[in-house]
Amino acid sequence: MTKYAVIGPGAVGTVIAHEISRVHDVTLFGRQEQQVLLQTVDGEYKINVSSLVLNDATFDVIFVAVKATKLKSILPALQNMCHSKSQVILCQNGIGQLELMDGFNAVQAVVYISGQKTADRVRHFQDKKLIVPNTTAMHQMRSDLHMTELELTPDTDYDRQSWFKLLVNLGINSVTALTKNTAHVVELPVVKSLTEQLLVEGIAVAEAAGHSFNSDTVNDIMAIYSTYDPLMGTSMYYDTLAGVPIEYDFIQGTVKQIAVRHHVQTPVLDVCCALLEGYQYERL
Ligand SMILES: NC(=O)c1ccc[n+]([C@@H]2O[C@H](COP(=O)([O-])OP(=O)(O)OC[C@H]3O[C@@H](n4cnc5c(N)ncnc54)[C@H](OP(=O)(O)O)[C@@H]3O)[C@@H](O)[C@H]2O)c1
Repeated sequence: MTKYAVIGPGAVGTVIAHEISRVHDVTLFGRQEQQVLLQTVDGEYKINVSSLVLNDATFDVIFVAVKATKLKSILPALQNMCHSKSQVILCQNGIGQLELMDGFNAVQAVVYISGQKTADRVRHFQDKKLIVPNTTAMHQMRSDLHMTELELTPDTDYDRQSWFKLLVNLGINSVTALTKNTAHVVELPVVKSLTEQLLVEGIAVAEAAGHSFNSDTVNDIMAIYSTYDPLMGTSMYYDTLAGVPIEYDFIQGTVKQIAVRHHVQTPVLDVCCALLEGYQYERL
């Protein structure tokens, strides 16, 4: 019987653990033992959380759903819970995290699970989908989880899917964090135009890195934003309101680094990066 663990009892991790618990043993790990209340469309569920630092068991499959900014800090504990064949699945926004996972058998999922954690409550809004690389191990895991509502989807075009999500985050996370306003801010013409320009620059960077998008991609992404609840924040918006570090290095910072490497001009992204780096400056 496969032993599952999930690290990070937040919006994403709690939903994943709850779904797996429908058919398999799963342990949800957080900083300390506690209970989280998960609110979904079909009800409320109390989910037990175990302490990551007190764990001494190993697991076959470990979903990591802490923010990318916290990944380094959990690596020693993650190392202790892996055996030689453990599969780690990073469930985080952004790209570049796998470079930190030397020595782990790790993949990163493109996360389509929308929710929000406030204190010990997690509200799930929509989607329970993880897009993963198209490997035999991921196909095996998909069949292990097919009785749950968690859609683990191996995709032959995984890299493009990953870049598409990065572009989606690049636009909406930047403008919501910098304006400290929710998703409806993209209705404002001046912000709409800035968002579109950010996406145009992001697409140019993606193309320089070998991932092609067609001219409709900006419109496709703007159409996605228009489906968001006007009062929905983004993870970067909530993090800036809370005054905590943001996943800048893995989203805007990574796109900027790739732009520099490929000599792509990104004037709007550069301004956003300067402001977001300023926000991060000496913030722990
Ligand atoms: N929320 C969404 O709608 C959404 C959608 C798509 C992608 N994502 C991405 O998914 C990832 C997770 O986001 P999230 O929204 O689930 O974040 P979150 O709600 O902040 O949850 C992260 C959880 O990790 C826990 N954690 C932090 N440090 C830990 C440690 N050292 N040991 C154990 N647990 C630790 C946090 O505990 P504390 O509460 O004690 O700090 C928190 O419960 C991010 O990369 C995010 O960008 C999120």
